[in-house]
Amino acid sequence: MPFGEVYGPNLTILQEWSDEEIENAIRYGIHPTGEPLLPPMPYEAYAGMADADMEAIIAYLRSLEPVENEVPAALLVDNLTRADIRSVPDLAELPTDPILGPAEDATPEELGEYLVRNVATCIKCHGSLNEDGTLDVEGPLVAQAIIYTDFGEVDGMPTITQQALSAWSTEDLVNYIGYREGGRVFFMPMHAYRYMTDADLEAIAAFLKSDANAE
Ligand code: HEC
Repeated sequence: MPFGEVYGPNLTILQEWSDEEIENAIRYGIHPTGEPLLPPMPYEAYAGMADADMEAIIAYLRSLEPVENEVPAALLVDNLTRADIRSVPDLAELPTDPILGPAEDATPEELGEYLVRNVATCIKCHGSLNEDGTLDVEGPLVAQAIIYTDFGEVDGMPTITQQALSAWSTEDLVNYIGYREGGRVFFMPMHAYRYMTDADLEAIAAFLKSDANAE
């Protein structure tokens, strides 16, 4: 990252965090100490995750056997502090209304949009940015983000709007995103997406090809 090196923390040792603390970390990027979690964590996307999905994630995290693995602290350049990089919302002002997610009778397009924006974090790489550089959760899928990797900055990720994907069939998208035919795809989190169900992948394809995803 331009501000230093950031490591993903060990998530098997959250036993002492309350459900609310885990949720606030995932949704709003707030550590229980009150410090901000840094931008590689796509909390903006997860702010809109349905409560039921959030509860399932917390239950899963709690079910993990603690694994000993010391992760280095973030190394920030120029004496920056976390607060210099990002400010967190006030705990007292966090939204309290239930977040329901797609309705039981949601269309595949609606389900797909929810998965793309709030669950599978496709928008982290293929989405757009607000003026202040934060993720625009509602924005078009025109790939404005820059992703920082061990081997440098990666920008110019593909735009995945309806127009950009006009030559792709639903089956092409399901096979590619769900890694159904193996092969090699640079950078996509295939190790995770290969376990998505066909129904979820078809919903994602339906959204990607729909007018709701037009540029
Ligand atoms: C970590 C970043 C990252 C995430 C997250 C990610 N992608 Fe990608 N995606 C890429 C990159 C990079 C490529 C180009 C791969 C290449 O050129 O080999 C790509 C390629 C694609 C393509 C092919 C487009 C083309 O024109 O070649 C589609 C479709 C796609 N991604 C959809 C998705 C969807 C849907 C999700 C969420 C389920 C997703 N991606 C999540 C980085 C990402």
